[in-house]
Amino acid sequence: MKEKRILFVSYTAVLGGGELCLLDFAYAYRDTSQVVLLTDGILKKRLEDLGIKVEVLESSRSLAEVKVSSGLASLKSIGELWRLARQVAQKSKDFDLIHANNQKGFVVAAIARLLGGAPVVWHLHDILTANIFSKLNRLVAVTLANWFATRVIVNSQATGEAFIASGGKDRLLRTVHNGFDSEIFDRLKDNQATLREELGIPRNRHLIGMFSRLSYWKGQHILLEAASQLPDVHVLLVGDALFGEAEYTEKLKNIAAQESLKGRVHWLGFRQDIPALMKACDAIAHCSTAPEPFGRVIVEAQLAKRPAIATIGGGTSEIITNGVTGLLIPPNDPQLLADAMQQIFSDREATQRMVEVAYSQAKIKFSIPSVCAEFEMAIA
Ligand code: UDP
Ligand code: GLC
Repeated sequence: MKEKRILFVSYTAVLGGGELCLLDFAYAYRDTSQVVLLTDGILKKRLEDLGIKVEVLESSRSLAEVKVSSGLASLKSIGELWRLARQVAQKSKDFDLIHANNQKGFVVAAIARLLGGAPVVWHLHDILTANIFSKLNRLVAVTLANWFATRVIVNSQATGEAFIASGGKDRLLRTVHNGFDSEIFDRLKDNQATLREELGIPRNRHLIGMFSRLSYWKGQHILLEAASQLPDVHVLLVGDALFGEAEYTEKLKNIAAQESLKGRVHWLGFRQDIPALMKACDAIAHCSTAPEPFGRVIVEAQLAKRPAIATIGGGTSEIITNGVTGLLIPPNDPQLLADAMQQIFSDREATQRMVEVAYSQAKIKFSIPSVCAEFEMAIA
């Protein structure tokens, strides 16, 4: 059990990778710490179920509309931001530090610090690049970090490099990867044939799974295009459009309805039993079209002892050594993905070797105790 008193602040309360990561650290510090959410959502229940103190700060309605950097933020929204920051500053007086788990949470925490709140650690889960964040957005976030953060924890070295490239100070950075409880995977039976039966997938077909929110960035369309070339392959799509990308979901449904894929794409929506679903697959694909900051799904695939194919870019090469612990392919290339899938399905011995090495490495490198030790050093 950890001693430091941390006020964890999260703007979002959906279950994305950043929030799942927060659950583990908030749990490790549960005796002395508390979580404050700036919006209500499923994360609150997950925290409560784990016995972690959690509070939703009242009325964040207009904060949802704040684009901190856009210049369009209304005075009302900025007023709301300030009001929340005042509350966080006040609360933080009983804590050693504020841990901000996302960008809006960090802006609130930085203002709270300005108003006399506890020191702020920003846990940065995003790669600050031009294709995702505007120049102004990056400037605001990085300037606030340079002025008000005592540390910036990044989920991979790649995330740290992008922070520096955006003007962030090197000396603030500490890398802390995400952690995973391998026992959850070890407890499961290896044969999960029931799910395949329920979905009506014949025994002699391969099942490749993708476990990401539905988003162009995550690249489900690349997997569907690759699978359309491989008639023996079925696709399991697990995840929902967490940050509203209804148009992209529509586009995916249209691709899946094509004759060449008919009956081979299985949609499960958002699920909370990922390890068991992974065990039902023969391989797992992670097709991000732009650099992935970390990529929790890849480690989970390794712990489920299923071969992972991921795209090069961002933190994925900190998880996979190509050909040794998984396959890394260039992004946005369905043909190369189809080739990688065929390689995995045809060379069973090499795949099995890869899977065993990946499992042993992930179990140690990304264990909860090991990342908690990194976290503790980072906030020391
Ligand atoms: N996940 C989940 N339910 C789903 C789909 C995904 O719980 O239906 C989990 C997945 O197991 C992983 C996380 O969501 O732990 C996604 O994290 P990742 O780092 O891969 O990507 P992110 O969405 O955070 O960018
Ligand atoms: C973010 C990133 C993802 C990372 C997760 C946990 O959601 O997009 O790559 O794995 O945070 O750090």
